[in-house]
Amino acid sequence: MGIGETAIGHKGAGQWVLCKADDSAQPIHLDSMEGQIGPDVVDMRGLYKQAGVFSYDPGFANTAACQSAITYIDGEEGILLHRGYPIEQLCEKASFTDVAWLLSHGELPDARQKVRFEQGLMAEAHLHEQIRNFFNGFRRDSHPMAMLCGTLAGLSSFYGNQGADQRHRITPEEREMSTLRLVAKMPTLAAWVYRYSRGLPLIYPRPGLSYAENCLHMLFSMPEAPWAVNPVLARAFDRILILHADHGQNVSTSTVRTVGSTGVNPFACIAAGVAALWGPAHGGANEAVLDMLDEIGTVDGIPDFMNRVRNQKDGTRLMGFGHRVYKKLDPRAGLMRRICHEVLAELGMDHDPRLELALKLEETALNDEYFISRRLYPNVDFYSGIILRAMGIPSSMFTVFFAVARTAGWVAQWKEMLESRPGISRPRALYVGPTRRDVPPSYGVEG
Ligand code: CMC
Repeated sequence: MGIGETAIGHKGAGQWVLCKADDSAQPIHLDSMEGQIGPDVVDMRGLYKQAGVFSYDPGFANTAACQSAITYIDGEEGILLHRGYPIEQLCEKASFTDVAWLLSHGELPDARQKVRFEQGLMAEAHLHEQIRNFFNGFRRDSHPMAMLCGTLAGLSSFYGNQGADQRHRITPEEREMSTLRLVAKMPTLAAWVYRYSRGLPLIYPRPGLSYAENCLHMLFSMPEAPWAVNPVLARAFDRILILHADHGQNVSTSTVRTVGSTGVNPFACIAAGVAALWGPAHGGANEAVLDMLDEIGTVDGIPDFMNRVRNQKDGTRLMGFGHRVYKKLDPRAGLMRRICHEVLAELGMDHDPRLELALKLEETALNDEYFISRRLYPNVDFYSGIILRAMGIPSSMFTVFFAVARTAGWVAQWKEMLESRPGISRPRALYVGPTRRDVPPSYGVEG
């Protein structure tokens, strides 16, 4: 039965029937599954057994690979919910650590859980002293994501759940501990990556500071001059972390689920997520926005740039615009824009030429037929790079802090995946290579 010969139609009452268009085979009955919100899915698990065919969906753009209660995205309406709560409300009322707890545990923490979680994060924020030695193996000019990925995978040898026994299954207590440890240690690791690359002394987490404050303290403090806590910047950084904490089954999260389905150590699993995030098509867009603004130069450069985008000849794109899922404004983009204004005002940079250029560029694009007809709106990356650079964070570190934030989502998804006992992830391929053939008799070492 070839795909081209099949027809699919809705039978009602939660069942679909797949049949060959020429009616020559028994129809196949597939159940439909209902989510809480969003489109139903067709349960394809019986397809091969009944019909001897697989489904074909490269990139899984039309495939639900799992059931998840963590994040809901409606790209048509510009909605993002974590455990049911709109991102706008979480950004306003919760802290990043509240959101990290929410993602993993399903509810916002009560007062006692909040205190215990924050204490636990502080207690686990330290890295084993031997981890300092890892860094000496890296060139100082290594990409920070290479160091993050390598050292994080290396942590599995210190904080492993599996030890020497490869048959060990990760227990619920170990899942909890790993979730806590990973969220706790990522800022320290991220800051050490930065400090090593600059040849600066490594700074330890400081009790009494919030999660976001500790990120900034470990980045910017010097032994003789601790970073002076700035509540506006710390809260802005906290909200940037919230806005990046989870985003459904994107490529890095799917990687974490896939790798985790083998039962591997969670540190190695999250390192795989970091590797996926590193790619310019995923985590690197905010850096690209800054490069683009530098290239445009001033508002006078906008018309020329827009012409290049519109004529599509040299592949120029307006970075920070468009999204695979959102066909309306990415709800995170509006929040990021507000944070951007707050941060630049706090730093006395509200007339920053780069901000003025970004605002004008955004306005121009939103009124341009090319963008309107393609439903291209600003995404989360359009403003985040401007904020981070204004705060003094170098662009090569942007994706590293994206990884710090996304760790909250990765561990929640990893935990949910293990709890659902899905079995190992194993897609199929439509084989298009040569059919069976023999190695030529003349070929080989024996001559
Ligand atoms: N600038 C100019 N044209 C664009 C852009 C853009 N940023 N994005 C899409 N288009 C055009 C594209 O050329 C195509 O035109 P046509 O129909 O004439 O061929 C049409 O819009 C549809 O594009 P597409 O590539 O099919 O859209 P997509 O949904 O597959 O791509 C995207 C999504 C994010 C890869 C793309 O919009 C893009 O490259 N944006 C710029 C990079 C960027 O900002 N990435 C960050 C994404 S958000 C990260 C996150 O959520 O974590």
